[in-house]
Amino acid sequence: MQQDGFIQLHAHNGLAVRAELQAGLSAPQAHTSPKYLYDALGSKLFEAICALPEYYPTRTEAAIFDTFGAQIAASVGSGCTLIDLGAGNCAKAARLFPSLRPAQYVPVDISIDFLRDTVASLQQRFLEVDMLGVGMDFSESLDLPAAVSSERRLFFYPGSSIGNYTPGQALAYLQRIRAACGGDDSARRGEGGLLIGVDLVKDHALLDAAYDDALGVTAAFNLSMLRHLNLLLDADFDVRQWQHRGFFNAAESRVEMHLEARLPVTVTWPGGSRAFAQGERIHTESSYKYTRQGFASLLERAGFEVRHCWTDPQQWFMVCHARVAVGGATLPGAIDTREPGR
Ligand code: AVI
Repeated sequence: MQQDGFIQLHAHNGLAVRAELQAGLSAPQAHTSPKYLYDALGSKLFEAICALPEYYPTRTEAAIFDTFGAQIAASVGSGCTLIDLGAGNCAKAARLFPSLRPAQYVPVDISIDFLRDTVASLQQRFLEVDMLGVGMDFSESLDLPAAVSSERRLFFYPGSSIGNYTPGQALAYLQRIRAACGGDDSARRGEGGLLIGVDLVKDHALLDAAYDDALGVTAAFNLSMLRHLNLLLDADFDVRQWQHRGFFNAAESRVEMHLEARLPVTVTWPGGSRAFAQGERIHTESSYKYTRQGFASLLERAGFEVRHCWTDPQQWFMVCHARVAVGGATLPGAIDTREPGR
């Protein structure tokens, strides 16, 4: 579907979603993809999480952009095609417009409905920037429509969303971004790049608090997924029978979110059911935390050359600018290809 300034490529496939959910809920260690956390209510709850004192990533990343905006712009250069993955309300990219001065801005999100109003008002403020909203599930494909310029593509992936993939999936995803930048051809012209935000390993108590806050907003965010599952799968989860668990798993270098049965529960849906013992869990999200070196080497293995990384004074969060490397083949090494949420 194409309208002036917007292209919607994604169509909801109810059958595939139901099959995926049934498989995850029936697995020995039940799990769901974290993407089901984001229905209309879930997205609002996530916005509230970003305002919590315990949830440091959003404000820390914003401070890095504010402090180093000029350096970031100098590293990236002006006139790029800025492709904003998971743009939401476009606020993070919009703050960079005055310094980056992109030639084209392409906010990408699963639904253009979220983008429509924001892009219209952004366009009024930045008349010189060509804007094209694209509705697509960018976790599945990065095949962008032809109307997206192939000149000087800069993918913008802030917020440490890359942490919601396993390292193996993150590597594969970064390789796809590299290909969508134009691969070796762009590299030879010195074009194509990525500006990405990454959360770093830190004190475990800080991580635990960030994902299990005192007000219970993260708990509500996690629990609200059950209502979304009821809708998608026609299941009969009772939210009151479940509780939130969020904690740092140091061995895996990730925060895990689970929903834990408060009592023995049987959940049913058309064509299936699952009995959960008291204390049994559904793994709903993993949020991987990287070391500076660990993430830089992931970028290099994906065929990027790290130009510059910026951190806050406490080194809690990092923003990296990387360019497509010439002949940047993937280096061999053990790759974890498990699904997120396991
Ligand atoms: C979107 N993503 C980067 C968030 C994170 O920190 O992993 C999602 C989130 N889950 C709980 N709190 C925030």
